[in-house]
Amino acid sequence: MTVPGQESADLIDVALERARTRGVAFTRHFNAAGSALPSVGVVRAVVDHLRREEEEGGYEAAAAVRPQVEEIYDLAARVLGCHRDEIALVDSASTGLRVVVDALDVGPGHRFLVSRSTYVSHALHLMSLAARVGAELSVLPTAQDGSVDLAVLRDLLAQAGDRRDVVCVAHVPTSSGLVEPVAEIGELARRHGALYVLDATQSVGQLPVDVAAIGCDALATTGRKFLRAPRGTGVLYVRRRLIEQLEPAAPDVRGAEWTGDHEWELVPTARRFETFECSTAARLGLGVALRELLDRGVPATAAHLATMTERLRSGLAAIEGVTVQDPKAAASAIVTFTVDGAEPDRVKERLARHRIKVVTVPAGHGQWDLGFRKLGAVVRASLHVYNDEHEVAAMLDVVEAIAREARQPAGRTR
Ligand SMILES: Cc1ncc(COP(=O)(O)O)c(C=O)c1O
Repeated sequence: MTVPGQESADLIDVALERARTRGVAFTRHFNAAGSALPSVGVVRAVVDHLRREEEEGGYEAAAAVRPQVEEIYDLAARVLGCHRDEIALVDSASTGLRVVVDALDVGPGHRFLVSRSTYVSHALHLMSLAARVGAELSVLPTAQDGSVDLAVLRDLLAQAGDRRDVVCVAHVPTSSGLVEPVAEIGELARRHGALYVLDATQSVGQLPVDVAAIGCDALATTGRKFLRAPRGTGVLYVRRRLIEQLEPAAPDVRGAEWTGDHEWELVPTARRFETFECSTAARLGLGVALRELLDRGVPATAAHLATMTERLRSGLAAIEGVTVQDPKAAASAIVTFTVDGAEPDRVKERLARHRIKVVTVPAGHGQWDLGFRKLGAVVRASLHVYNDEHEVAAMLDVVEAIAREARQPAGRTR
């Protein structure tokens, strides 16, 4: 029989991961879902390139590292299970989602079917676009376990009529540990001829994400979260068949060639969605982060995170006065909770005094989820490969003390 915790210890060398993560000496960081601690290798790649720019100039330095930058497309394609031509490098997940949705040329005949797990920026974009062009937008109800109700989705897609449906789902939301049934959704979208845009911002790097198995038409993710890449990086995948049909709303010199007085040609790959200007240093850091993920292995990473997260989630659930706010379908390295009698911000501040870094997620970051569940805010802890059982135990001790204090009659709280 496997001892809980043992299986991940066999797969991930946590000591090695900690040794190559400088941040663990300063903080017990439970905010990978915000922006994870980068590895020493990632930071070195960025800093070295900035030095090179200092010494040689930005364009010259970029030219010198072109092969390394080209390799990033291969690495991203390996992580997502697609072809390098289907990859565009962007500055954030929101940019990736925006450029691809804007290129769908949505009009009154379109209907967005969106999950409750949709992130604020994506939701704002979809709502404003739908209102502007007269498209429909329906928020999909959830099943008992908190994930998209597949039966309702199937019925809606079957009754599309003349409408063109675009299904938009967050694989893992910002507001809980939920994992949506993305492959089942992909199967339904394919069967009914709907387009499927997946926000994989919180899943790539912590869970296996294979675009072919999922069946999405487009996917966006960010660098700074579970990929542990620098801020200001992101990856967009667009299915090869779709690329040619999509015209970016604002082509850029990087994604198009100005061929005549009033003519231009879009590049044939997903790079038509890119912009010329970017941080080459940050992109090189992204390349290192992708390689480190592939070397470590996504399954091993997922196994370690599942073990550590379960330890944290069940430990929190066992503390009197603490409510784990994750839905039943929670299976990611994100844990959300509240403490009776202690505001989420207060819990965050108290944890910070012990160098334990978590965040609070307000309803404004996920009205269709937290707002719908009548939660004003939750405390969010998210883990990565550098979080070990000692850090999890330390976190549980402090939360227990906070909950105990909050239970004391007023006046006795220190
Ligand atoms: C589920 C989800 N989608 C999208 C985003 C936006 O990512 P970015 O800030 O890289 O645009 C976030 C950020 O927290 C998120 O949690």
